[in-house]
This record gives sequence, structure tokens and C-alpha cells, in this order.
Amino acid sequence: MASLQEQIQTYEVEIKAFSPADATDLENFRIRFLGTKGIVKQLSGEMKSVPPELRKEAGQLLNAFKQLAEEKFESFKEQYQSGQSKGPAVDITLPGTPLPIGTRHPLRIVENEMVSIFEKLGFSVATGPEIEDDWHNFTSLNMPDHHPARDMQDTFYVSQNPDWVLRTHTSSVQARILETQPLPVRVICPGRVYRNETISARAHCFFHQCEGLYVDKNVSFADLKQTLYYFVTEMFGADTKVRFRPSYFPFTEPSAEMDISCTVCGGKGCNLCKHTGWVEILGCGMVHPNMLRNFGIDPDVYTGFAFGMGVERITQIKFQVNDLRLYSQNDVRFLRQFQAL
Ligand code: DAH
Repeated sequence: MASLQEQIQTYEVEIKAFSPADATDLENFRIRFLGTKGIVKQLSGEMKSVPPELRKEAGQLLNAFKQLAEEKFESFKEQYQSGQSKGPAVDITLPGTPLPIGTRHPLRIVENEMVSIFEKLGFSVATGPEIEDDWHNFTSLNMPDHHPARDMQDTFYVSQNPDWVLRTHTSSVQARILETQPLPVRVICPGRVYRNETISARAHCFFHQCEGLYVDKNVSFADLKQTLYYFVTEMFGADTKVRFRPSYFPFTEPSAEMDISCTVCGGKGCNLCKHTGWVEILGCGMVHPNMLRNFGIDPDVYTGFAFGMGVERITQIKFQVNDLRLYSQNDVRFLRQFQAL
């Protein structure tokens, strides 16, 4: 084993050459030489084995060594400790790490646009819960228990309470609005809905809808048509044609579905419109008198219209996205392709 003196000499060379790159380096130095299990402590322990006549000299050597280590440490301490840099350790003129700016989700881009179009017509935004009770999702919408229309939508039930469902459509928000807000009401209700569907390119177990509801005195089907014409013109351009087809929804009477001329092929026929020239975008109608009665509204005094559309559907038409699964896979290569319109 090297003598105490030799060890000290070797360590002295190391200490003299030491220059920390950062605070961690300095701290490691402190632990190595001055820590409770450090070299200074360790060498002091070795004093026992030094013959008594040499102890005085060895003690002086060791003291000088300790002082050297302490002075080295002190000389850098101020610069590196407590994160306060006195010297050039941090160059504040260097450019920072760039933070990439994200893009909006295509569904949100389209939803925002829908909302802003309807806001121009005086609609305000309303929302409701995604876990809904049977009354707001079905019964109050003129779909009593065992009504066959309930089979139009495959429902997820909440296991703790058979009265609770994951809402199957945003029409449930219509019920909540009629229940709580004084008339007249003119609202647009965007949100997520759930259905027990096998996930594929064309179906998903959750998706998004946007509901509209206007109830006042003298609201007519002509008002509904004019509102939707305006929406289509703003959303898809002034050349877009519109057609209504009679349909059935329990909560509207009469009911219709609305198609627009295919914006991809201009009506000539393509995959999006399945070579018909038309794409269906929404369901609508005059609010059923039974539904108004369910909320204590007299259908002889008030009338209203409602409509509901799929946000994924509108987005598919606008951006030609052909696989519904892309919306929820969070693949940035997909998400980065969309710019706010
Ligand atoms: N709730 C319907 C659905 O999910 C869409 C709908 C149709 C909403 C007609 C309406 C409406 O407000 O009037 O398929």
C-alpha cells in the first residue's frame, strides 16, 4: 500500500488540475474529497498506522492537503452553488430550444367553424353530460321504453345504474335545454357521442355530433331550410346544392334528411358520393309536439326546429378523410396535415 505521503501527492495533482464543468462536477468533487466517506476522512483514518515519531509530520501534510481541497472547492462554490452563475456557465445569448407549435385537430377545426357559422345567426353554444339518463337521451325525446326507434342506435349502458347510458346523440342536450332555459331558445350543441359499434373505417364507438335547436313562436319549416341553406353556403361554398328527403326521427315531425351536392366531384360521381352526386349530411325536422309537451311547452303556442349532424362526416367531406379511425389514433403525421380554415 502506498504511503500516506505518496497518496497525498497523487491526490494533490488531481486537485490542482480540477476545474468543474458544472455544479454536478463540483458536487462530485466535494463528495470525493471532503464528504463523510471522502478521501480526507479516509486518509485521517490511516494516521493510526503511521509510526508515532512520524505522526506530527504526517498530520501537517494531511492538514495542508485538506486545506488544498477545501480551497479548491470554495473557489468554485460561489459560481456553481444555488444555481447562481457568476461566470459564463450559462450563455443567455444562445438561442433557446424551439418548442414546436401543435396544430388543431381536424374535428375541432370543423366544429369551430360550425359554431361560428351558427353564432352569426344568433345561436349560442350549449353543452350537456356525456353520461346521460334514459329520460334525456330517449324517453323525453318521444322514445318511451320499448319504442322501436331505440334500436336505431346501439347503446352503451353504465353497469352501475341501468338508467344511465353513454349518450347516443347530442339530441339529449335539446332535452336539457328545454328543461332549464326560458323560451325562446336558439342553441347549437357540439359534443361527443357513443354507440356500440365495431370499429372500422366507416364506424366507431365514439364520434361527434352537432345539434341545433330553435324554439319560439311561429318557427316554421321554411326557417329550418333557410338556416341550413345558410350553413351549407358558408361551410361548403355558394355553389353547393341542397336537397331534402322525407325521413323519420321520433323527436321531429315532419322529419327530413338533407343532402348536399358532392363537393369532391361536383355531382359527376365519385367514391365519396357513391356515384350518386349527393352526400347526406344531417337529419332534421320540426320538434315533435310530444317532446314540447314533455317539458311543459304548449305546442299550439310554440314551435321549433331541430337538426343534428355528424362532425366526422362534415370533416370527411371537407378534408376527404376516408378512415374514421384516423381521428382518434393521434398520429402526428395525420394531425399535422390540417390548418385552420
Ligand atoms: N339524433 C339524430 C341521430 O343521432 C340526428 C338528428 C336528427 C338530430 C333529426 C335532430 C333531428 O335534432 O331533428 O341520428
